[in-house]
Amino acid sequence: MSEGALSARISDAPSDPIFGIVELFRADQRPDKFNLAAGVYMDEQGITPILPSVREAESRILSASTTKLYMPISGDPAYLAAAKTLLFRTVGGAWGEIESAASERVQMIHTPGGTGAVRLAVDLVSRLRPGAEIWVGEPTWPNHTQIIESARITARRHDWITDDARSLNTSALFDAIAAAKGGDAMIFHGACHNPTGIDPTPEQWIEIAQQIAHRGIVPILDFAYQGFGEGLIEDAASLRAFLATGCEVLVASSSSKNFALYNERVGSLAIIGADGAAAAAIASHARMAVRTMWSNPPAHGGAIVSTILGDATLRAQWEGEVGAMRTRIQGSRAALVAALATAGAGDFSYLLNHYGMFSLLGLTDDQLTRLRDEHAIYLVSRGRINMAGLSTTKIPIVAKAVASVLA
Ligand SMILES: Cc1ncc(COP(=O)(O)O)c(C=O)c1O
Repeated sequence: MSEGALSARISDAPSDPIFGIVELFRADQRPDKFNLAAGVYMDEQGITPILPSVREAESRILSASTTKLYMPISGDPAYLAAAKTLLFRTVGGAWGEIESAASERVQMIHTPGGTGAVRLAVDLVSRLRPGAEIWVGEPTWPNHTQIIESARITARRHDWITDDARSLNTSALFDAIAAAKGGDAMIFHGACHNPTGIDPTPEQWIEIAQQIAHRGIVPILDFAYQGFGEGLIEDAASLRAFLATGCEVLVASSSSKNFALYNERVGSLAIIGADGAAAAAIASHARMAVRTMWSNPPAHGGAIVSTILGDATLRAQWEGEVGAMRTRIQGSRAALVAALATAGAGDFSYLLNHYGMFSLLGLTDDQLTRLRDEHAIYLVSRGRINMAGLSTTKIPIVAKAVASVLA
């Protein structure tokens, strides 16, 4: 092999912390195995179905579409309008009514999934604020630090939860905000924190947003699970808190989870500028960045979302479907807490204070290996469990297994 070969100086890269475990799960030949690792919604049967509203939208799109032409660099205007309304809907307002600041100060870019939106946000920080660092509260979605580092930016990890991973540690979070320099960026999860399930209250969001604005830090709000916490509008309390400060914000949102469009790769970056001109200027740089990354986004997922949200009947149907997913997740949480107590694993009632699909059970690597080897139960590091991977029959089995590795 020549000294100049790409492979000359390398060993294998590590497997992805989440996709790697899902691969191990797939390779497991045992018939009764439990995938509580993947970050996807599953129904009681362990299936991730196509939502009926999505099927209906797809059949309408198939019969009406006439071309596969490129879209603009910023994506499909119909999707962008729909995604903007979903994000910035006023509390108690009708569909189509958005926060007035959002109509003036927001530019939208259609991205391949939430990952594309986070990647674009990070790329904008590197282009527009050279030398800035990006702060991430650990633990976080492991891809955050990977994305920051692949953009050649320094990721500054900081504490933000209590040692037992059960609740917010506000003083650690405010210390990090005080330590960041003006112009640095900080990533927050808009709702349903992955992996901890710990979300600030609306009042805490207001305090966080005010501190961030005061310190001149650029918030990147990663909003991958809108609707999985308390409701589509309730979950956007974080976003409204930042919008109200007048500071610039980058909001990465995903249609992967709430529309179950995982493999269609659809999401958006909302660029909130100090004013309309600032947003337009930032968006012009975003389009430059997009042109060098994916050029323009895939169309199908965005067409599904805009078809659903643009039709009052389909939209109501979809809101019901999101509500049903949310209710199932909340039900699984409550049933798991009860089953863990019955199995003698201890008091896990703190899980009831968390939101979305995930929480940490606080298990060690050894305990996780035992769960996998002895019980064919797959969780992510620190015992991140996906509540949507549970079912009425699985819950007592999982609870007993957790009790046995904790004993
Ligand atoms: C916190 C967080 N951000 C972003 C994403 C990206 O989602 P997408 O599949 O839309 O790229 C995920 C997906 O797991 C996530 O958990």
